[in-house]
Amino acid sequence: MIPVCRLEDLPAGESRRVETTPPIAVFHTEHGELYAVDDTCTHQDASLSEGWLEGCLVECPLHAASFDLRTGEPACLPARRPVRTHRVTVEDGVIHVHLTAEEGTAA
Ligand code: FES
Repeated sequence: MIPVCRLEDLPAGESRRVETTPPIAVFHTEHGELYAVDDTCTHQDASLSEGWLEGCLVECPLHAASFDLRTGEPACLPARRPVRTHRVTVEDGVIHVHLTAEEGTAA
């Protein structure tokens, strides 16, 4: 479980990159939902935390593939593979990310 920041320090509509290995992008949507996904786009090497957030979709800043933050699935090309999603909780006002194990590794 990785502490990210206080909830009030990540306003709705904004995102934050967490320097884990691999890095994680945390999003606070305009509707008040929190999501976390692997930060690196599955198309090429771009940071999704620098992308555009619209509803539950984030658009990659490099070639405009978008990903559904609920599932990690790409909603359009050029990305074809999903990004890994992670569970997010808020405890005592602090956002935490619960990392999903990489495929083939123990949780
Ligand atoms: S690097 Fe994200 S769409 Fe190309």
